Amino acid sequence: MSDIKKIKEEFLNKLQGDLSLSEVNQFKSDLFGKNGIISLEFKKIGQIQESERKKFASDLNEIKNILQNQIDFKINKIEELEINEKLNREKVDVTLPSRPYLKGKIHPVSQTIDEISSIFSEIGFSVEEGPDVENEYNNFTALNTPDNHPARDMHDTFYLDDNKQKLLRTHTSPVQIRTMLKDKPPFKIIAPGRTYRSDSDQTHAPMFHQVEGLHIDKNINMGHLKGCLNYFIKEFFEVDKIKMRFRPSHFPFTEPSAEVDIGYEIKNGKIIIGEGDKWLEILGCGMVHPNVLNNVNVDSKIYQGYAFGIGIDRLAMLKYGINDLRAFFECDYRWLNHFGFDPLDVPSNYRGLSR
Ligand code: DAH
Repeated sequence: MSDIKKIKEEFLNKLQGDLSLSEVNQFKSDLFGKNGIISLEFKKIGQIQESERKKFASDLNEIKNILQNQIDFKINKIEELEINEKLNREKVDVTLPSRPYLKGKIHPVSQTIDEISSIFSEIGFSVEEGPDVENEYNNFTALNTPDNHPARDMHDTFYLDDNKQKLLRTHTSPVQIRTMLKDKPPFKIIAPGRTYRSDSDQTHAPMFHQVEGLHIDKNINMGHLKGCLNYFIKEFFEVDKIKMRFRPSHFPFTEPSAEVDIGYEIKNGKIIIGEGDKWLEILGCGMVHPNVLNNVNVDSKIYQGYAFGIGIDRLAMLKYGINDLRAFFECDYRWLNHFGFDPLDVPSNYRGLSR
């Protein structure tokens, strides 16, 4: 037993030192491992004379407890030290400003689409989507634009096969067809998205954006169309008064058809919407042609309504003072940094549409 007491002193002494976790674990296995010093002492109990056995066992137990506690204590201490060191090393100062060059911006076209969706959702329109690659039927035929119709030429279509069956949609109007084919009336939807025409200059890009609107129900008339567009233009340009005029026009899928102009003037080189005596065309619209409704199995004697198609890029240019359409698609980071929007500023009618 005196040997064991010596060993106890020896280990307690060692444990005072500046030790690593693996060194302490080594002591632990030296003492309590399968052939550890203390474990072997326990095996001796049976051979001890009976008169001394009880004392031997109780002394041994006491020594074992002391050493074990001391080892656990040491391990805890080392671990605590390591955690504190790590916390110090990996400290993050949350009050530091973020790195400005890591901040992305929302493209003005995306922002404008979000604004438009927010405005129309306030008056009960939901958002529909259609694919960029369309078939000829949805893009033209179902929209009352049969083969050889002159309107087809005006669209400068990108066909994707020799049979002219697949194409890049030339407008968002085919989403009207997709929506009415998959559901039953009433319909009240907008469909923003990309559209394509083989055309490129300062005011035309081969890929551009439109938003389609469609409202079909019983007893819908042109007054509803006017009210809806009037509300939209005022909300979008964030003005109280708007000058708007409907000009007779022609689209195969609407009858009657109109184009809508808004009044503007230029003051100090800036375009002011809703005042002045200049006119700017911003959209096409009309009452949905009965042939279109018949093509999608909607009874045109019971249901009728209006549709409109708005050029999104043009609205964005007007609202945000951007004068070259091509800049939208050049991916110039400096331009985006200037005209882009903060990703956290989601447009809403209540909190404000734009900054
Ligand atoms: N799809 C037409 C275009 O791209 C725009 C348009 C005009 C859409 C009248 C409509 C509409 O829904 O009623 O030129």
